[in-house]
Amino acid sequence: MQIAVVGSGYVGLVAAACFAEIGHQVISIDNDAQKISRLQQGEVPIHEEHLPELLERHRGKALKFSTDLVGAVRQSAAIFIAVGTPSTEEGDADLSYVESVSRAVASAINDYKIVVEKSTVPVFTSNWIRKVMLLDGAPSELFDVASNPEFLREGTAVVDFLYPDRIVTGADTERCSSALCEIYRPLTDGSYYSRTDRAAVPAPAGWSAPARLIATSTKSAEIIKHASNAFLATKISFINAVANICEAVGADVKEVCQGIGSDSRIGSRFLNPGVGYGGSCFPKDLKAFRHVARENGYDFNLLSAVIAINDEQRTRFLRKVRTALWTLKGKKLAALGLAFKGGTDDIRESPAIEIAKSLLKEGCEIRAYDPAAIERSREVLPSKGISYHDSAYSAAEGADALLILTDWPEFANLDLERLRSTLGYPIVVDGRNLYDPTTMASHGFLYYSIGRADVQPAHRNGSPEKMATATSGKAAK
Ligand code: UGA
Repeated sequence: MQIAVVGSGYVGLVAAACFAEIGHQVISIDNDAQKISRLQQGEVPIHEEHLPELLERHRGKALKFSTDLVGAVRQSAAIFIAVGTPSTEEGDADLSYVESVSRAVASAINDYKIVVEKSTVPVFTSNWIRKVMLLDGAPSELFDVASNPEFLREGTAVVDFLYPDRIVTGADTERCSSALCEIYRPLTDGSYYSRTDRAAVPAPAGWSAPARLIATSTKSAEIIKHASNAFLATKISFINAVANICEAVGADVKEVCQGIGSDSRIGSRFLNPGVGYGGSCFPKDLKAFRHVARENGYDFNLLSAVIAINDEQRTRFLRKVRTALWTLKGKKLAALGLAFKGGTDDIRESPAIEIAKSLLKEGCEIRAYDPAAIERSREVLPSKGISYHDSAYSAAEGADALLILTDWPEFANLDLERLRSTLGYPIVVDGRNLYDPTTMASHGFLYYSIGRADVQPAHRNGSPEKMATATSGKAAK
């Protein structure tokens, strides 16, 4: 099928490349001429595993880049809208880009097309798209509006797209619903997986069968997207709250996670406590979902609690750093990670960036390392008081403590002997629970993590000692 994907940001670019990969002819559209020209020349604007290979395979063949929205709409049978939907001051989604694309599509319509929301949008957006398109003269028989939410995660976006858990197609007419089914058929009937010429994108662990296609109404699909993100964020805030109780009573959140996560109704994924969730999706989508609920007469105060717990998690981490170091002014701190999570160079709403900013304000000197996000971080962090390094060990050189802020796999595999001898003081404050406390203590570290006892090296009897600290709650006092 000939497809136009409007917006070549994270979702749009990955979707365009993957649609080409599963056999469609795709035009990726953006109004940023510079970005399009860079894409045409072979640049890859985001750090995303497997994306460079897909772009290389399909660029100029099944995948073209253009700024000509009207031309692309005329050629295409399906137009996916994947433009930004940022938060407004009030927390609702700013849909002005979606509106202007819908108007442009209306002006170009020449035969039957499906117009598909791919961006995360609140319920009723499809109604609005339809309304403005009709107002702008698009004949009602020449288009249908659908919602096809995307569930890909940054860092594993290509794998998530090609091996999805489910595909949700929200459509209100049979014609539109069948067109969407047709687009995803190579994934749902498994024919893509038996092709010999497909890209070498390995299936994720545990993947066993082609995705189920869930056909719903457009409104249900819109709600599915918001509710999915809200549920995942709730799971994270829930485990962060449990971690805080574990700290207070001296229990171990890792053991607790094992205990609750092995109940198949709960599941162990997205049950990792830490410095809180960030990124361009959860923070924005939770506020937007709460806002749309309120506008429709329902006070979704569970989401307010989820947001509050998440915000508090950063404050608690800063308190931990203070507990580990006593005073902060003038302290040299190695910060591992700036991206909002491992595997991406995205720093939007990154807890690591917020923590670094707070520590700089306290007068600390930050020695930062991130495998991919340094360039982006330079643009948002103050230049005074921070230096950027090309490895974890270089950042750790002479530091008063090491802070782990992002869960990059390489941070979980550091040479602990080398790290200890590189640091000025053997103190690690781990905001992602990447290490086992006993191992850290046996390598001579004072180790602070989330929801587990703080430990220090063995002194007298050879076994690691648990520390009584202010963060260990009542028992410690
Ligand atoms: C999220 C959803 O997971 C995707 O399904 C969805 O498509 C996407 O938003 C979107 O709406 O576009 P993403 O923001 O890329 O994906 O990242 P996640 O992997 O979900 O992580 C979000 C945040 O939660 C990160 O800061 C991560 O470090 C944190 N997290 C995640 C935890 O603190 N604990 C966990 O157990 C899991």
